[in-house]
Amino acid sequence: MKTESEIRKEILDLVHELYRIREQNKKFIPGKTRIHYSGRVFDEKEMKAAVDSVLDFWLTLGKRGREFIKDFTEYMGMKYGVVTNSGSSANLLALSALCSKNIRKPLRMGDEVITTALTFPTTLNPILQNGLTPVFVDVEEGTYNIDTEMIERAISQKTRAIFFAHTLGNPADMDKIMDIAGKYNLYVIEDTCDALDSRFKGKLCGTFGDMSTFSFYAAHHITMGEGGAVLTNNYELYKQVLSIRDWGRACFCQTGEENPSGACGHRFDYKFEGLPEGYDHKYVYSNVGYNLKPLDIQCAMGIEQLKKLPSFTERRKHNFNHLYNLFKKYESKFILPRWLKEAEPSWFALPLTIREDAGFTRKEFIAYLESKLIETRMLFAGNILKHPAYKNINCRIEGELNNTNAILERAFFIGVYPGLTEEMLDYMSSAVDEFMNLR
Ligand SMILES: Cc1ncc(COP(=O)(O)O)c(C=O)c1O
Repeated sequence: MKTESEIRKEILDLVHELYRIREQNKKFIPGKTRIHYSGRVFDEKEMKAAVDSVLDFWLTLGKRGREFIKDFTEYMGMKYGVVTNSGSSANLLALSALCSKNIRKPLRMGDEVITTALTFPTTLNPILQNGLTPVFVDVEEGTYNIDTEMIERAISQKTRAIFFAHTLGNPADMDKIMDIAGKYNLYVIEDTCDALDSRFKGKLCGTFGDMSTFSFYAAHHITMGEGGAVLTNNYELYKQVLSIRDWGRACFCQTGEENPSGACGHRFDYKFEGLPEGYDHKYVYSNVGYNLKPLDIQCAMGIEQLKKLPSFTERRKHNFNHLYNLFKKYESKFILPRWLKEAEPSWFALPLTIREDAGFTRKEFIAYLESKLIETRMLFAGNILKHPAYKNINCRIEGELNNTNAILERAFFIGVYPGLTEEMLDYMSSAVDEFMNLR
């Protein structure tokens, strides 16, 4: 009879073989194969790691979750990390932790958070979900990032935090943001979901503010299918993020710990006012929480993906440069992306805004690209305040949102993800040249 480890090896060898066969059959046919704006880039290692984890059948968050978050936190050079089931959950946790009564200076209902209306919805939603008031400022043309000149103007007695994204991987001006935050004593949360491995002055995005959030959805810089993380150097905030992720419980031992008395050895040693002496700390609730944990299987893939991040980043930069140079020829028609001289973006995608006098519309250009099977996407919500769900939200707008509205009307993005090959880039270039030559 075969041993368990022999069976496991056979299964994993077959997975490897399956991957090899699929790879052999992969072929790019110009005009026939769809060019995605993003996608999973993986090899047999992720497939084997996922299957290996399934074979364990632990399923819920466990040793691979602990390994992933340790590796990720170390890669980022941060002290504390919490893995989540999505980037949206990471954002919700970060904002909810800031509102926890267990921290020294919690945000309270009606407090203001400065953000942008050019946003992914779940960057904004946690502000609303926690009863806080978003204060919208415009973004800059070309960088698509929060206009730091407007932040200071937007500050009122009630302002407590700045929550912004490094748009599409383009680092925001962290010198200015951190200066303003220091001056007015504001919390800073960096939505780094699209900016993993981007740097500002050589320092990784997501390491400047009080907390940062990440997404490991299939489209992002690394993936575990669905997934996310919150990072911080603040132990008080870390404990709240962990608690709120895990139903709000007071216990901050990691899930899956074997010791019956918890990893801390004190599971039955606490006394809380109103609760019986020694009430199981796992069932004491110190926050109004959720359950936003991923599965261990997801983390198994994340461990392998993280090892590939440096090569992914290199490829993203290469692809971005290729497509940037293509559109540079047509600068009179497109507003090209801009980045700060201190910034080293690992682009999520290449954003473009069609100039008002280009002689063609976004709709026409996108329809053309899509007809050539080149995928495009809108810059998330454009101006989220124009969307049905957000028409009557309680908010304040500082100044005009002119650039945000221009993005709503005329911007879009195309992919630069590591799965784009030279053949695909060449095909994209000739398709764009063909459209422009017809003008
Ligand atoms: C800037 C930004 N924040 C948050 C999210 C949400 O991440 P997820 O899809 O993992 O929930 C996204 C999604 O792509 C995003 O682009």
